[in-house]
Amino acid sequence: MCGIVGYIGKREAVPILVDGLRRLEYRGYDSAGIACARNEKLSIFKTRGKVRDLERSLPERLKGTTGIAHTRWATHGEPNDRNAHPHTDGSERFAIVHNGIVENAAQLRAKLQASGVTFHSDTDSEVLVHLIAAMPAGSLEDRVRGALRLVTGTYGLAVLDAERPEAIIVARNGSPVVLGIGEREMFIASDPAALVRHTQSVVHLDDGEIAVVRADGFETSTLDGGATAKKPSTIAWTVESFDMEGYSHYMRKEIAEQPDSIRRTLSGRLDNRFHTTHIGGLEMAARELLEIRRVKILGCGSAHISGCIGAHLIEQLARVPAHAEPASEFRYRNPVIEQDTLYIAVSQSGETFDTLAAVQEIKRKGGRVLGIVNVVGSTIARECGRGIYLHAGPEIAVVSTKTFTSTAVAFALLAIHLGRIRDMSTSHGARLLKALEALPAQVEDILAMEPHIAKLAQELAKRENAYFVGRASGYPVAMEGALKLKEVSYIHAEAYPASELKHGPLALISPETPTVVIIPRDDLFAKNVSTLEEIRARSGPLYAITHSGEPLPVAVNGVIEVPKSEPELDPLLMNIPLQLLAYHVALAKDRNIDQPRNLAKSVTVE
Ligand code: AGP
Repeated sequence: MCGIVGYIGKREAVPILVDGLRRLEYRGYDSAGIACARNEKLSIFKTRGKVRDLERSLPERLKGTTGIAHTRWATHGEPNDRNAHPHTDGSERFAIVHNGIVENAAQLRAKLQASGVTFHSDTDSEVLVHLIAAMPAGSLEDRVRGALRLVTGTYGLAVLDAERPEAIIVARNGSPVVLGIGEREMFIASDPAALVRHTQSVVHLDDGEIAVVRADGFETSTLDGGATAKKPSTIAWTVESFDMEGYSHYMRKEIAEQPDSIRRTLSGRLDNRFHTTHIGGLEMAARELLEIRRVKILGCGSAHISGCIGAHLIEQLARVPAHAEPASEFRYRNPVIEQDTLYIAVSQSGETFDTLAAVQEIKRKGGRVLGIVNVVGSTIARECGRGIYLHAGPEIAVVSTKTFTSTAVAFALLAIHLGRIRDMSTSHGARLLKALEALPAQVEDILAMEPHIAKLAQELAKRENAYFVGRASGYPVAMEGALKLKEVSYIHAEAYPASELKHGPLALISPETPTVVIIPRDDLFAKNVSTLEEIRARSGPLYAITHSGEPLPVAVNGVIEVPKSEPELDPLLMNIPLQLLAYHVALAKDRNIDQPRNLAKSVTVE
């Protein structure tokens, strides 16, 4: 999942393209490049490394008011100068930048090589520019259309023709492409983050669409040539919302933003008159919701884990059987889609390929699907057509923090809504709404514990491995804690249901392997204390996430006490210190916190 950017207008393209790449760097950051067209010539510069490396070594010759650019997350061909985009044909007339995977690249490459084409990279993407060059002479649009008819796979693609710099051709199939509408200038990007500095007015291309983009506007059509109409939408985010605001990392900024992002997710959705919640985008009447017999939640990575917390909330509060499953596993097993099941797709970016494909599978089989999404207008949101927007604001750090918490809050809103149209009492509803309103202040209290958490992180940073364990709704908290630590510190961390330890993992407990235990003061407290004892008996270092109260009956190496909420909502608070723990361990290990190795913010390839 790479980031592509394009510009055509009256201004010099390079500074605009570099700024766009910087804003998309969380999509991939192993190499970058730019191509500009001027005086019927292409000038191209590309390099291994980050956008700042590209910017530092940009040659003066890179000029022009039409250009395309790319920041890469390698799928085919290792990160190096040769495999960086843009790619050109032999005569350097055409240049392309591509986000996605050309699945039949090997066959196409063999055919093109047999016809005398020389390849300069190991990438799948390079076949696209040679196919375009090999098409019969004609408009660039027709050449691209002809080439894409031979391609199977996914693409967000931008194409430049040195001989016709008055237009850029873009096409989409599976990977997001957004057009930004300016004053006699147009912008192209993989997501709106790269455009907000220049315009709030955008159009999203749909799968199978191609667009001719000129300085004075654009036309869209299908790959078969049928014209399509696009209605511009307005981006809510401003360029300021992408600023670091004095924090040293986006991850730390986004952790700090949680009291506000929770307030935005709650805003206008608490109905204190009927002690229930109001979710405008649900577009499902109570009668239809009452027919729901089961809930299936789909997502990847942290979105899946927040779905696990969501499943607990829906089962506990609405008494509807609920289960969360990784979207990729769901779609590969040819699932049976049931009419009385409500499917919920969770995705902060709204572009994760496996989750999108799961939504399309459910719809193809006539199922009912909702989206819980952060990025407004994103593909999954448009594909679902109804659901809950998080309004958590842009999340730039690759590791998700505030959107994880806001997703869990969104599930609490949905669970209360489903519960109150079933057996949940008004008093229980009222207690839960009060507890939701108290969350932002309670998160503030936890953030104030940072110095203590940072101290514990120094100890953890010395370790190679770590365990996270919890029971019931504490287990997803352990899963997310382990994922965060893995992602940013590269410490091997695993999460286990606490009762599973004695069925194997306990063998790995040793003085070198610390365990973080999620131990809320609830009806499972005693059970979790026995887990502490099991680990202590094997000299395993212990860190407990719990609530304030009597000292724990087992000696631990460190304890973090979070404020108490309603039991069903406790997991939302217990997760916050684990975000800070992972952040400070990564800081102690001098990791690249916002751009961890080998990862990217939204996974738009299979
Ligand atoms: C979480 O920190 C990771 N960035 C990753 O697991 C992420 O949750 C996953 O890729 C899903 O992304 P999405 O929410 O944008 O669909």
